[in-house]
Amino acid sequence: MKAKAVITGIGGYLPEDILDNQELSRMVDTTDEWIMTRVGIKERHILRDPHLGTSYLGACAVKDLMSKKNIKPEEIEVILCATSTPDNIFPSTASKIAEAVGIKNAFAFDIQAACSGFLVGLNIATGFIESGRYKKVLVVAAEKMSFMVDYQDRQTCPLFGDGGAAALVEPTTEEGIGIVDCLLHTDGVGYQHLHMKSGGSVSPASHDTVERREHYIYQEGSAVFKHAVSDMSQVCADILERNNLTGEDIDWLVPHQANLRIIDAVVKRTAIPHERVMINIEHIGNTSAASVPLCLWEYQDRLKKGDKLLLTAFGAGFIWGAVYLQWGF
Ligand code: UT7
Repeated sequence: MKAKAVITGIGGYLPEDILDNQELSRMVDTTDEWIMTRVGIKERHILRDPHLGTSYLGACAVKDLMSKKNIKPEEIEVILCATSTPDNIFPSTASKIAEAVGIKNAFAFDIQAACSGFLVGLNIATGFIESGRYKKVLVVAAEKMSFMVDYQDRQTCPLFGDGGAAALVEPTTEEGIGIVDCLLHTDGVGYQHLHMKSGGSVSPASHDTVERREHYIYQEGSAVFKHAVSDMSQVCADILERNNLTGEDIDWLVPHQANLRIIDAVVKRTAIPHERVMINIEHIGNTSAASVPLCLWEYQDRLKKGDKLLLTAFGAGFIWGAVYLQWGF
């Protein structure tokens, strides 16, 4: 019998420092009331130490996972890191995480798929496992979003937080558990609505680009909002339909945590009862690629083996998608 891929462990890490709405409202012209009503975020975790980057967050999450699962670094064969906030443009943040946690027998690479990075990582890991060539793949998703947030821009600075999570993906032949289906899409029209203007091979960093504050997130919020609602709702409907399921069959919806109003709209359209939706946006904010796996990490004690989970995310690119899986432990 051909082996399926299954998530067998989840680790996570949130930096200790908190940036709450009171502190933000002293930095820009905003209020706790506006942020709570329009976005649903009360506070976010921030890695304030400028000498620590995304690899630190990812490494902490991997260490958490390894201690819980009691696995040794040398057992890992592949380590992927989904991130939009790499330590450096090169080399990969995944290779820095490997070094930090003592992973010596694996190859490592990064995935740039913005907020959908964890879903893309799971899709790749599933392919590796199903090929029969690998038995232990680590999918890390980590983001130091605070490094690219402009704390003078009230439209974006309340939204994002820092954090990291890691999932172990292994083969199984057991019935009723495992990653069943992944459905992913990209529409490059999204570039204009959400990007960083400078610091890449187009418009390299210069004094002028820094003066123009072009190394921060640029987002046209309402355009992104509309696409996020309609595209996540549609991809959830499509993956349910092609697996002969309805919202009723799903034990947990795990949506990307960008805005509580987006989550509510997707929940309404997928007809999954609210009490079966993972939500942690209020105290974490939007941690981009780390958002979905940080939900899994926080809710793991409430999950039962075999539970049917629908993961969905949407982000810059645009890239969005859904993963349908049955919980593995
Ligand atoms: O994870 C990656 C994908 N990203 C997303 O999914 C984010 C999608 N977008 C959103 O979540 C929302 O569009 C935002 C939270 C970014 C903005 O919410 P909105 O309801 O779309 O607000 P808006 O941009 O239409 O602005 C409404 C008003 C404006 O004032 P006027 O022009 O009506 O007078 C803004 O200037 O709210 C004002 N505003 C604020 N007021 C107080 C914008 N930001 C703030 C703020 N505090 N922080």
